[in-house]
Amino acid sequence: MQNDRRPDNMVRITTPELADAFIEEQLQLLRDQIGDKKVLLALSGGVDSSVVAAMLIKAIGDKLVCVHVNHGLLRKGEPEQVIEVFRNQMKANLIYVDATDRFLDKLSGVTDPETKRKIIGGEFIEVFAEEARKLDGIEFLAQGTIWPDILESEAGIKAHHNAGGLPEDMKFELVEPVRILFKDEVRIVGERLGLPANMVYRQPFPGPGLGVRCPGAITRDRLEAVRESDAILREEFAKNGLEGKVWQYFTVVPDFKSTGVKDGKRTFDWPCIIRAINTTDVMEVTVEHLSDELIDHLVQRIITEVPGINRVLFDYTPKPPATVEYE
Ligand code: XMP
Repeated sequence: MQNDRRPDNMVRITTPELADAFIEEQLQLLRDQIGDKKVLLALSGGVDSSVVAAMLIKAIGDKLVCVHVNHGLLRKGEPEQVIEVFRNQMKANLIYVDATDRFLDKLSGVTDPETKRKIIGGEFIEVFAEEARKLDGIEFLAQGTIWPDILESEAGIKAHHNAGGLPEDMKFELVEPVRILFKDEVRIVGERLGLPANMVYRQPFPGPGLGVRCPGAITRDRLEAVRESDAILREEFAKNGLEGKVWQYFTVVPDFKSTGVKDGKRTFDWPCIIRAINTTDVMEVTVEHLSDELIDHLVQRIITEVPGINRVLFDYTPKPPATVEYE
């Protein structure tokens, strides 16, 4: 069996050598636990589930079945990267489900932020459970639980969802290969398992995805404007050496329009808001101050390249009072 709890004397994994030793030990534990049975994993493309996938592919190969649900609210290039890294490079047994229409239809006209979040979370479990029911002989469910999740759930700060909130009739034994690791350790382990640096060192991204950055009722055109502007922001941060230095940065396209002018004609389009923040614990957040040059460049690119945007605004509000996300 795997360790359930992080041993008090466990050395923090800070070097490739320590990561390699952890991986070797885990691979053996995983093989002992799983034998020749099959394991199911919801692979979001986030750091934790990606590292779990990479570890299990090494341990049990195609006995791991990964399901990647694209809810249509992912960032530009994300589903493609999951397929490229896991199916093409690591030869994972990967089921890709494009559920974009299903999610966007359910979300159509829904304006309340909490209702939007509930629909996205509930639908995700439903799609995943449907895929799981189509498979035979699965006995284990792998999860990217990490040590802070356990500590927070024990402290009553946040509920730790065992078995991903799957319906009662779906019972699996859990496999949690990074359960005793802190986030920084998960990243080093992921790197040693061969995952690309931009996957293991990526900024936090909320489960409801771009849905919370498209405030109010989500429409496909506004969602596309969020996705395109986010891609430009990420590209410019990478080019300017800010990737990996700034904690989190993204764009928001609110659902109001303002008057503008282009080629001598009146426009009536959305603004795009840029938010870039730093923090250690996300309880308190400070704003990253961008250079004038970068601000001008971002504005130019977004107003010329993103359809539907005629204005760029910068959110320089700390938390508190403003949360990181808009919904
Ligand atoms: P807030 O908006 O609460 O965000 O200040 C704090 C941090 O949490 C992220 N966040 C989420 N992460 N699922 C997640 O996995 C969620 O539903 C969620 N909502 C917010 C947010 O991006 C920020 O890093």
